[in-house]
Amino acid sequence: MTSVADDLEKKIVAALADLREAVSRFAPVTFASSMGAEDMVLTDLIYRNNLDIEIFSIDTGRLPQQTYALMAAADKHYGKPAKIYVPQAVSVEGFIQTYGINGFFDSIDARKACCHARKVEPLRRALTGKRAWVTGLRSTQSSTREAVSASAFDENNGLQKINPLAQWSEVEVWQYLRANDVPYNALHDQGFPSIGCAPCTRAVQPGEDIRAGRWWWENPETKECGLHMVDGRLQRIKTGTT
Ligand code: ADX
Ligand code: SF4
Repeated sequence: MTSVADDLEKKIVAALADLREAVSRFAPVTFASSMGAEDMVLTDLIYRNNLDIEIFSIDTGRLPQQTYALMAAADKHYGKPAKIYVPQAVSVEGFIQTYGINGFFDSIDARKACCHARKVEPLRRALTGKRAWVTGLRSTQSSTREAVSASAFDENNGLQKINPLAQWSEVEVWQYLRANDVPYNALHDQGFPSIGCAPCTRAVQPGEDIRAGRWWWENPETKECGLHMVDGRLQRIKTGTT
């Protein structure tokens, strides 16, 4: 019988193989880090193994203070600053003019317009010139992510999308972080399993879905910000590589 440690070791080996294959087949490769628990596992794997993968985060301008603190702590821990993309001022000003400073609470359209200005447009710039991007998506994170696979062509963005933690459990993510002393967001210890922008994220109760605190006023089916959608629909990622 295999032990928990053996299982984790196998998942680490597989995730590293996915990352290495991405570098050899699809360079240049970039990694989108929200600084969440999964993304800190990938950050650690990339730096520890000196993989030729750029790491970037999108600072939407509305992130929690704890996320900014982690960005600074991670830069120090690894001795390398991650690249930060920010939204275009004119897009954010346009959103505020049309919907109001906190207009994203008023309708799903307004919420998606805010996510588009603050996240999706900067993501497009971050992916320009790249042949693959890495994300921390896991298949058990939500009903919208059940079909996530390790590698697939992302038609929406026109490049390969690599999800090395697709088959990891939340428990395995935390085993890795603790075993390797990886810095993580202080909000995770305050009931926030999934962290996005401050106004759109709240703590969850024990037993609640791990993404229940994201856009908590919406139905589970609409809870994607546009980073992981195809043609405006929720992404159903095809299996296999190209
Ligand atoms: S979200 O789409 O609902 O915000 P979530 O927080 O679960 O996504 O993160 C899923 C993956 O999307 C992360 O592992 C990361 O790859 C990417 N991502 C989400 N937010 C950001 C961000 N602000 N900057 C960079 N990548 C992000
Ligand atoms: Fe705007 Fe909320 Fe989307 Fe952040 S998560 S970009 S504040 S709607």
